[in-house]
Amino acid sequence: MEPFKIKVVEPLAFTTRAERAEALAQAGHNLFNLPASLITIDLLTDSGTSAMSDRQWSAMMLGDESYAGSRNFYAFETVVRRVTGYREVIPTHQGRVAENLLFSTVLRPGDRVPNNIHFDTTRANVEHNRGVAVNCVIDEAYDQTVNHPFKGNMDLAKLDRVLAEVGRDRIPLVMLTITNNSGGGQPVSLGNARATADWCHGHGIPLYYDACRFAENAYLCKTRDTGCAGRSIEEIARAFFALGDGCTMSAKKDGLVNIGGFIAMNDEALAARVSSMLVLIEGFTTYGGLAGRDLEAMARGLEEVLDERYLEHRVGQVRRFGERLQALGAPVLLPIGGHAVYLDARRFLPHIPQEQFPAQALACALYLEGGVRGVEIGGLMFGKPDEATGTWEWPELELVRLAVPRRVYTDSHLDYVAEVCAALLAGRGAVRGLRIVSRSPVLPHFTARLEPVVG
Ligand code: F0G
Repeated sequence: MEPFKIKVVEPLAFTTRAERAEALAQAGHNLFNLPASLITIDLLTDSGTSAMSDRQWSAMMLGDESYAGSRNFYAFETVVRRVTGYREVIPTHQGRVAENLLFSTVLRPGDRVPNNIHFDTTRANVEHNRGVAVNCVIDEAYDQTVNHPFKGNMDLAKLDRVLAEVGRDRIPLVMLTITNNSGGGQPVSLGNARATADWCHGHGIPLYYDACRFAENAYLCKTRDTGCAGRSIEEIARAFFALGDGCTMSAKKDGLVNIGGFIAMNDEALAARVSSMLVLIEGFTTYGGLAGRDLEAMARGLEEVLDERYLEHRVGQVRRFGERLQALGAPVLLPIGGHAVYLDARRFLPHIPQEQFPAQALACALYLEGGVRGVEIGGLMFGKPDEATGTWEWPELELVRLAVPRRVYTDSHLDYVAEVCAALLAGRGAVRGLRIVSRSPVLPHFTARLEPVVG
């Protein structure tokens, strides 16, 4: 059961099918363009959508809004140091700013940044700084039916290949995303993190975590790896961080806040360079684009997320949701990840070819069917047209992610979503593919407009 009681409620929005059809057309078949007031269950993201606790809300009243040296910064810094073990703590207002600051500071044009799988903003920040983002996850990550417990693991042979191609001087850092969001919210094992760290340090390359969901990763290690079974979540998380040199963090996930993030590291000289950029684009080093009260809420969220009872419910709720979908015949990515269930659009809509964006078509169809919003992780997000020839390079996976916000929905909300999926499965032959009407080159999925393919 939920290890909390509900103190504040927000009514859900209900719409008719005709209203949803109209809204979809207006939105150019892009669910990012929909007003949230027209969505019944919003599983677009688990990012910034958490319900805060009474402890966090009361902390908001303790905001010290001093420009420099706010006491909330010190409380925040203490918690981040305790959880990560990293000395230098630089607040940012969300994760992608942490990425921007890190990559704009360390990257030179042509540098390679290996990761298990880069999240879209991470890839975009690497590429914006003229680096090359390389995914080095184990091959099992691309097979939706293989039930590997740690599908987020790094493939060291792939790291060897990047190294052989460009040499260590062109690899300023290696990243490890825990959990691996773009590969299905799959965890990285502690053993794999250790092997990756040994590889990096053997070549004199720093290892950074993209740590958005570090607590969920630690919980999945605790339940799937006998070596972690007897350890507390905090101990497991600390063991991960101790292997690395730093991390970027979107606290909008496992920080249990609506806004916030940070970079933490041990390298003092690098931290100084990053901090001077921070002052330029975010704000002074003791607030980093946030209010003092946000820092206090983040400090408390980072403590609360380590509560094993909370994580047991959180990860368990997502698993039950996935199992329900599976029982109804929906093709889901296995094993079920920590923060979301991923529908395999290729198997859900086998009649729609990849060049007609099957995952985007499925996301739109779920909205039309029941006012449920998920997000496409497929050709619209990661597909790349060749400027010269107009042919596309397609990603391996066509998924719709149903991300579960933390402490927001109950199991009966998710049962409703499963029923919507079941109804859609029954009538899937009627779902049509999409074609792009307009698309921007940077993070195209946020603003692209599409229309159904005719015929
Ligand atoms: N890294 C990962 C693995 C993420 O999942 C995200 C955000 C970020 C970095 C960037 O953080 O949004 O605070 O700037 N993921 C959200 C999502 C948007 O829906 O998965 P941000």
